[in-house]
Formats: sequence, C-alpha cells, structure tokens
Amino acid sequence: MQPIIQITNVNKVYTSGFKALDTINLAIKPAEIFALLGPNGAGKTTLISTICGIIDATSGQITVDGKDIVSDFRHTRGLIGLVPQELATDAFETVWTTVSFSRGLFGKKPNPAFIEKTLKSLSLWDKKDNKLIELSGGMKRRVMIAKALSHQPTILFLDEPTAGVDVELRKDMWQLVRQLRDDGVTIILTTHYIEEAEEIADRIGVIKNGQLILVEDKVALMNQLGKKQLILDLKEPLTEIPSSMADFNLQIKNDGLQLIYSYDTTNEHTGISVLLQHLSASSIAFKDIKTDQSSLEDIFVSLVRETT
Ligand SMILES: Nc1ncnc2c1ncn2[C@@H]1O[C@H](COP(=O)(O)OP(=O)(O)OP(=O)(O)O)[C@@H](O)[C@H]1O
Ligand SMILES: [Mg+2]
Repeated sequence: MQPIIQITNVNKVYTSGFKALDTINLAIKPAEIFALLGPNGAGKTTLISTICGIIDATSGQITVDGKDIVSDFRHTRGLIGLVPQELATDAFETVWTTVSFSRGLFGKKPNPAFIEKTLKSLSLWDKKDNKLIELSGGMKRRVMIAKALSHQPTILFLDEPTAGVDVELRKDMWQLVRQLRDDGVTIILTTHYIEEAEEIADRIGVIKNGQLILVEDKVALMNQLGKKQLILDLKEPLTEIPSSMADFNLQIKNDGLQLIYSYDTTNEHTGISVLLQHLSASSIAFKDIKTDQSSLEDIFVSLVRETT
C-alpha cells in the first residue's frame, strides 16, 4: 500500500543554526493512528509544521498522497487538518462562525449539518454561539479540533490535542479519533500523556534531538521491550533481601509485604523457578502471586534515558 505521507531524508536547520530535524525518514500508512512521542524540544512540532508546509525543510523531500508538498502545496495542504500546539483563536468570534469560516478557507461549500455533527462530537454544541474568549482552555482546544476537521481532511495532525483537557473529555476525544480513523482518516498526534499513545496509537515513533530513534507497531513494541514484574504478597513482612537472592532484581515494597521481581520477557530463562526455590529455602512464604507488564511509559522513559 502506498504511504499517505512519505518523508525522505528531511533535515531542518533553523536560521539560528540549530538543527531541529536530523535525517528523518518515515512512511505513514493510510488510516493509521501514529503517535509521535519525545521530550520537550525533541522536534515534534517542527516535524509536523514541516509536513504541513508551515515551515520549509532545509533538505529532503516530503510527499502527501503521492504529491510533493512544495510543488503541489495547494493539493497536499487541502488534504490536511492541523490542530496546532499553540492556541491561536479569534477571541471575539463565535464558535460557529470560527469553525464555518475555517471550512470556507479551504474553498469548501458551506455544510451546516457537518459543522453541527462535528461540534456535537466534540461536546461543543451548547457553546456554538459563545465567543471564544468566553470559553475555558479545554473548550478552546476542542474548537481548534473542530476547525481542523471543518474541511473534512483525510489527514489530521493533532499537536498535543488533549493538553489541558479533563479526563472524561479526553476519553471522548480518543473515541472521536478512533472513529475518524475507522472512517479512513490518517491521524498523527503528539502527546506527553503516554497512556494516550498506549490507548489509541497503532504505531509509535519516538523522536529525540531531532532524530527518529524508534518507529514500531505499538503492540510489538510493548511485547518486545516489555519488562514484566512478578509481585509476591508475603505472609510476613520482609526487612531485607536475603543475600542468597542478591543476584535477582528484587525490590521490597508496601512495608515489606510485597516482594517484586523484575525480569525480561525476552530472556530465555526468566529465573522465576529458581527464585521460588530460593524463597522456599529461606522460608519466605507468600499468599498471592501476580504479574504485571510494564507500560509504554516505562518503555519510553528507559528508551529516552538510554540514548542520551
Ligand atoms: N523558530 C525557531 N527558531 C530556532 N529554533 C527553534 C524554532 N522553533 C523551534 N526551535 C527549536 O527546535 C527544537 C525543537 O522544537 P519543537 O517545537 O519542534 O519541539 P517539540 O518536540 O515540539 O517540543 P514540545 O514537547 O515542547 O512541544 C527546540 O530545541 C526549539 O528550541
Ligand atoms: Mg511541540
């Protein structure tokens, strides 16, 4: 399948001389949700702005729907909806006018029924006649999403879409993003909420110092890099780990009532049976045992730390 976005050897050096993107190569598949993760200043917004044609790449090529974003700018930009990280709104316009106007900017005929559906899906319908200045931060961000969707784009960029949005509405937004994906829209989002990527992304890219250090299917990523923990609820509190078990990656938690063993699922031997033998030999009794898989957050933190 032809990628909907193809990024080839893209570099961005700002006029200050700062290299914000370093040889980026990435193919985005149609109708996937791609989450771009990375610490502050990693280059996420720069990459998105470059694909959208807001800033020019210093070198390299980007195609959207098979067309070059420079020579075919009108076509490629028309396919894209962008929710920028920075909220820039016309404070004194109403929600309805702002969103309808955005649609017009892309040369699309008015479609009040579509605007109504979009505002409803973002829980903004009751605010349609309010001026933007009268809205809360989370509401403004949702207006930005409505604006980005107003011309029915086939690709949607969401740069920190849920920053400042409360937990419940965030879940509604995830639902909306999934629905858009199911309708065939390709979604690229950045987020600092790792559970957001874990929840909705099909693929994950990690960017650091302008370099894409990892691109992986989410499920595969979590399986490959996933560390597992074996959690033992002890009958008697343990004050210290017996020296015979010093070689195991063990931690005592919960006032000594929990013993936690971290192991790598990719190792041939997890060491669990040997650990249990040691526990029995040391007369450490447990009443319950469970396992826990590391989250994407753990994976992300260790990845970003490792590559410094
Ligand atoms: N106009 C500019 N001129 C010079 N440097 C810039 C400019 N815009 C961004 N940068 C630098 O480029 C780097 C990447 O910035 P960018 O905004 O892409 O990061 P980000 O990954 O989106 O970070 P955040 O998570 O904070 O949004 C940063 O070091 C930033 O200071
Ligand atoms: Mg950013």
